[in-house]
Amino acid sequence: MPNDVVTMDKIVSLCKRRGFIFPASEIYGGIANTYDYGHYGVLLKQNVIGQWWKSMIQDRDDVVALDSAIIQHPKTWEASGHLAGFTDPLVDCRTCKQRFRADHLAELECGRRPSKHPGEDAQCDLTEARDFNLMFETTIGPVKEGGTTVYLRPETAQGIFLDFKQVLQFARRKPPFGIAQVGKSFRNEITARNFIFRTLEFEQMEMEYFVPPDEADRWYEHWMKERFDWYARLGIDAEHLRLRPHDPGELSHYSSATSDVEYRFPFGWSELEGIANRGDFDLRQHAQHSGEKLEFVDPQGGERYVPHVIEPAAGVGRSMLAFMCDAYDEDELGGERRTVLRLHPALAPVKVAVLPLLRKDGHPELAREVYASLRRHMKAEYDDGGAIGRRYRRQDEIGTPFAVTIDHQSLEDRTVTLRDRDTLAQERVAIDGLARALQDRFAVE
Ligand code: GAP
Repeated sequence: MPNDVVTMDKIVSLCKRRGFIFPASEIYGGIANTYDYGHYGVLLKQNVIGQWWKSMIQDRDDVVALDSAIIQHPKTWEASGHLAGFTDPLVDCRTCKQRFRADHLAELECGRRPSKHPGEDAQCDLTEARDFNLMFETTIGPVKEGGTTVYLRPETAQGIFLDFKQVLQFARRKPPFGIAQVGKSFRNEITARNFIFRTLEFEQMEMEYFVPPDEADRWYEHWMKERFDWYARLGIDAEHLRLRPHDPGELSHYSSATSDVEYRFPFGWSELEGIANRGDFDLRQHAQHSGEKLEFVDPQGGERYVPHVIEPAAGVGRSMLAFMCDAYDEDELGGERRTVLRLHPALAPVKVAVLPLLRKDGHPELAREVYASLRRHMKAEYDDGGAIGRRYRRQDEIGTPFAVTIDHQSLEDRTVTLRDRDTLAQERVAIDGLARALQDRFAVE
């Protein structure tokens, strides 16, 4: 089980070393809970998002895409319940002047004595818990005073509800059907922990699936299974995944039932994604606050109802972190320790590395030709720097599933060595048809 060798320190250090993810604003000392994604991080992120879109709108035909605004009319958040209820309970310590989430005290460090939890030391002096809204506020208008207060969206879901009527018309849909969206959301999280697991700004992949009310339970079951299987199909060991139903006290204000897909992170089982039965809460709220009718009217029978909503809501960063943790492995190769990311080929930032064995004797010229033909079909990388073993290991660390080496024999018979990252098997394959041969190995089952 590769997962047993991984620690958060190893993941954070690999991400920084290879430029996947690193703290934002570092030259100014960083900014809490905020990270930047470098070259390989961007590629991996795009592949995760691409696979999500594929599962929603390519592999099925009952879901349409949307990209709604981040800043919506402020009434949105009144109707959704976020203004009143999207809060975390916080306590302040009068001694160390730090602020803590009251429901996370057992996992946090005291501001003065990190070996203790806040409140445990005799000198800790915690206030009563107070509710603190997680939405970031800003102002529309040239001056702050007199401008309109608006909010950065804390979830992408509400934009979907606001556009329900539009989509119903232009996409000529009838429940059951879904509207999917990927985009940034923002929450004023104060607890800094676990790298990109909880950040101030993060991307969500959310889909609202509108169903006739009496079909809600069936579709809730359907989406729990679909979403669990998506992670497993893309390489996460099913033993490291579980579905955990929320206790009634844990449910969000809008939900009658929610289950989380959880992953066994190095810091313990934690939420990757929530699948919620939101009932008709959102459409009814927005109908009431806007005065618009948000319902489905069957043009044939005239039947009319407010659809219920099943929502799978996933985080891009958290999924990435889980894919990386599960793919992380170490082994020994030729007496040296190797770090390898055994990412599913569909997620790997680079699909194939093209490596001339020597920097002379015609190797680079043929390697460039192979590289030019492969990059038309997939993300490829050309690398001629350093000993071949070191170049393989660089690619192993970023999860490149295949490496192609051009040597003397390649010049004679137009074949190359194809090395498999996981099995380390090396086979001789023809340059002609190489792209097709590789693409066949990337398919998601
Ligand atoms: N529309 C429902 C909703 O937003 P949520 O459980 O609050 O539900 C859905 O968020 C997913 O978004 C989470 O399962 C998680 O993957 C991701 N997410 C939420 N808050 C996050 C944060 N502060 N940092 C990173 N990801 C976050």
